[in-house]
Amino acid sequence: MTTSHEKIVIRQPDDWHVHLRDGSLLDGVALSTARIFRRAIVMPNLQPPIISVESAIKYRKRILDALPKGVDFIPLMTAYLTEDLSPGVLERGHREGVFTAAKLYPANSTTNSSEGVRDIRAIDSLLETMERIDMPLLIHGEVTDPEIDIFDREEVFIDKCLSPLLTRHPALRVVLEHITTLQAVQFVESSSEMVAATITPHHLHVNRNALFKGGLRSDFYCLPVAKRELHRLALRQAATSGKKCFFLGTDSAPHRRVDKESSCGCAGIFNAKFALESYAEVFDDEGALHHLEAFASINGPSFYGMPLNNTPMTLVRRSQVVPQTFQITSELNRKEYLVPFHAGETLQWSVVLDEKDSKTVS
Ligand code: DOR
Ligand code: ZN
Repeated sequence: MTTSHEKIVIRQPDDWHVHLRDGSLLDGVALSTARIFRRAIVMPNLQPPIISVESAIKYRKRILDALPKGVDFIPLMTAYLTEDLSPGVLERGHREGVFTAAKLYPANSTTNSSEGVRDIRAIDSLLETMERIDMPLLIHGEVTDPEIDIFDREEVFIDKCLSPLLTRHPALRVVLEHITTLQAVQFVESSSEMVAATITPHHLHVNRNALFKGGLRSDFYCLPVAKRELHRLALRQAATSGKKCFFLGTDSAPHRRVDKESSCGCAGIFNAKFALESYAEVFDDEGALHHLEAFASINGPSFYGMPLNNTPMTLVRRSQVVPQTFQITSELNRKEYLVPFHAGETLQWSVVLDEKDSKTVS
């Protein structure tokens, strides 16, 4: 990696948590991720969810078909855990190189999670299998009990669900996805090397005030919901620390504008277009550009036991304005819109894609 005040060259990054969707939405967003990231862990919360090896293989093909020829991108597929899933499906999918990991959604915790897990003890045999075959468990870490305040749901999940789960399965590799609290940072830091966390760009940039700035701002609504400023500051420290247990996962989660702007708007922020620039700004502001490569390109593959990417990627200090909307074309040929994270804002860094040449990073 080389850094100067004006330019950074890092190994090409990977995105360890992204929603690529399906159909016209997939067609509209796939390249936003694939033009920057070499690999991405693709979330399985489609409707219906990805619960078989065959459906994952077909979905992977649809993702690759949505990209222009010659784009070098590897979708890493995940299985959606349900209480009815058989351990044999996970084992076969993992052995055949189809399932990189499996995702635990507590039932009704977020978008398309109604078929998720109601009782974590009911998937013990799945977790035992994953522990034995060293298949990572990716967790949406929130309880769903309506009695628990929404801003406390991650912290309560860690105490009531995650801690006991790790005691029962000490050799299980676990990623606590899109962490949002100081408690999650501290928990991951004090856990074994088998536990890591992804951190999104939006949770590094905004706190919960963003949801209510001058009105109700659905573009900043995601799950887990952004928390108080003290949590955002803890996340910024964690992400920029260089510590191995924290790595890049955008949780880019596009929803059509009409689905966000509704009386019951969808959770999710579409950040894929400018994710790397968004992270770079945080690292720059924190005086930690020298740790950007660890977070974006090294800690993730190291945790997953995968090779590091060798293609260099260059960012320069050149400001750019993020468009207010992106247009996609629906199945019925209608124009639809996505609002990107940072819409209308000026970002200070730009990725230089034509310098992504054949040179390798030693
Ligand atoms: O904000 C979110 N959106 N959080 C999630 O956990 C799921 C995601 C989605 O799929 O829309
Ligand atoms: Zn997600």
